Amino acid sequence: MSNMRIPQEKFDEIAQANDIIDVISSYTNVKRRSKSFIALCPFHPDRNPSLHISPQKQVYHCFSCGASGNVFTFVQEYEKIPFMEAAQKLAVRAGIDMGSFSGKPDLSSEMSVQFEINRAAARIFYDNLNKLTGTEKDFVWGYLKKRGIDKDAVKKFGIGYSLNTWSSLFSHFAEEESFSPEDLEKAGLIIKKEEDNARWYDRFRGRLMFPIFNENDKVVGFGGRKMHEDDLGGKYINSPETRIYNKSKILYGLNFSKDSIRANDYVILVEGYMDLISLFLAGVTNVVASSGTALTEEQVQLIKRYTKSVVIIYDADIAGIKAAKRGTELLLEGGLDLHVVTLPEGDDPDSFIRAKGKKDFDMYLSRKQSIIRFISGLYEKENKLSTAEEKADFVKEIISYIVRIPDKLKAVFYVKEIAQMYKLYESDLRDAFTAANRQYKKESFPKTSVVIPASKRPLSATHKKTTAVKFSAAERDMLDVFINGGYEATQYLAENIHIDYITSPAVLILAEAMLDEIANEGRIDTARIMENINDTAAKELLGSLSAPKYEISKSDTLQTHSILASSEKGMLNYNRIAKDVIKQFKISRLENLIEEIKGDHEMGNRIIELQKKIRNLKNGVNDTSYDEPGEES
Ligand code: CTP
Ligand code: MN
Repeated sequence: MSNMRIPQEKFDEIAQANDIIDVISSYTNVKRRSKSFIALCPFHPDRNPSLHISPQKQVYHCFSCGASGNVFTFVQEYEKIPFMEAAQKLAVRAGIDMGSFSGKPDLSSEMSVQFEINRAAARIFYDNLNKLTGTEKDFVWGYLKKRGIDKDAVKKFGIGYSLNTWSSLFSHFAEEESFSPEDLEKAGLIIKKEEDNARWYDRFRGRLMFPIFNENDKVVGFGGRKMHEDDLGGKYINSPETRIYNKSKILYGLNFSKDSIRANDYVILVEGYMDLISLFLAGVTNVVASSGTALTEEQVQLIKRYTKSVVIIYDADIAGIKAAKRGTELLLEGGLDLHVVTLPEGDDPDSFIRAKGKKDFDMYLSRKQSIIRFISGLYEKENKLSTAEEKADFVKEIISYIVRIPDKLKAVFYVKEIAQMYKLYESDLRDAFTAANRQYKKESFPKTSVVIPASKRPLSATHKKTTAVKFSAAERDMLDVFINGGYEATQYLAENIHIDYITSPAVLILAEAMLDEIANEGRIDTARIMENINDTAAKELLGSLSAPKYEISKSDTLQTHSILASSEKGMLNYNRIAKDVIKQFKISRLENLIEEIKGDHEMGNRIIELQKKIRNLKNGVNDTSYDEPGEES
């Protein structure tokens, strides 16, 4: 990175052009909460949104881990890149020229050339459409009309037309001389003739052109729909992958729908360009299109930034399900809530909504079924549940979906539900699930470990140094309950613990492993956890806690003293300790929160409220209304 001085105005310009809500949204799922915005904090494992973002001040702050800053620091910390690189990234994102300040001139200039070419081409196609005359005009605009696309829609989606000649686009660019044929070829707009090296021709000829935008409204490629009978190409021809068009990372229409997806907190996933456009024109705007290809993991991650809930529109037969299986699995593996809607046979969303309107479409939407129920229903409908073999087949199939749900409690719930609905033995289903789950985990997860930047984890006053690992008394007692407590105590913890309560990274790793064990196996096998975790500190801690005798210091914050050392105390005590642990976690969390907002005048009432909650907790008032610090009521 050059040391050339960059005027402050440049950074101001970049900051102005990059709204913090937009930028953070492109990394993590952001939701509106009254005046501010909240998100799951990407800087620590966060189950409830604790990152607060202020659109007025253009800053973020995590009430849980303390991370805070502006749009530059966010990108810096998230991407783990130096400030200048973050600034550069944000400049590119907003189309601001950093000129000679750019750290990687050739790389970024090749990309910006590609952006420019695509933008210019979109303009040319759009102008073509609007300048058509005579029969071709009547033909093309007649087609658009038939499909419900008027001038406004053409403008909104940037729809254009590639003239029906061999090289009108190429000639157009050649006249202007702004881009070389090689760059145009790289953009996928022209193709070199095999037999004649000096000759080029247009990829798109006589087609309706749909620009494909990235999340930041930049054209990265095109989908061209066939318009002419004598066109021997496929119904759609699409731009090839380029430096700026990575098909696995783009969802058509997301640039138009992201706000609506966030507002509705679910997204409708359709296949085609026209499906998305027609839904939009009918007023259904929380849509993205996969453009007919199988969904990728990156696209699932993209969706997850905006919502955790997806509705897919499927063909209503087992064949249809099987064809879309990989995409379905990826959505489930991504932890998304997945629902299915089926339209009448022969309809796609485009044809349906244009024929029946939004009301009917909404009615079909409201009949959405969870993917698991939907698939089960199909087997029932297609009469594939009568013989023992068919049932076994069904169990195998449905379990193959259920194992992919990361939330194991939810998965177990489905197992129960399916067993009841189809009168299967729950134990059979559960055994199949457990076996499949073990197999699945072995195949797909080389043990992941939680990454928590040490600097992001301020240790509260209750932390004290013991071994190499720092943890609070409540954290230690929690682990002890997990290891030595009975069913009731561990279940109580499993149900009430929030990962956010835990501030020690090593304890966090252990707690997650233990919760996972409980969800999967119903009990904790310390030996197996020991085998499966990689983190040395966590291993050491688990070892010391599992040893038959260990030094117990008096907890300075728990109201009851730690009584774990005395062996005659039975399970009853563990039940009480479990409750105290949760209570102590809640108190600490509230106290931390008060610390964080102490300086903020506007928060006066909130502090009083929090203090009252702490008093109630301490006095043992059963405060079921306890809300997470992230949630503003
Ligand atoms: N598609 C493609 N190439 C094809 C066919 C389809 O890229 N030869 C992609 C397009 O993104 C298309 C989507 O798959 O929008 C869905 O295909 P299909 O259902 O066949 O097309 P529709 O979107 O229904 O197209 P139309 O309504 O214009 O016929
Ligand atoms: Mn269609």
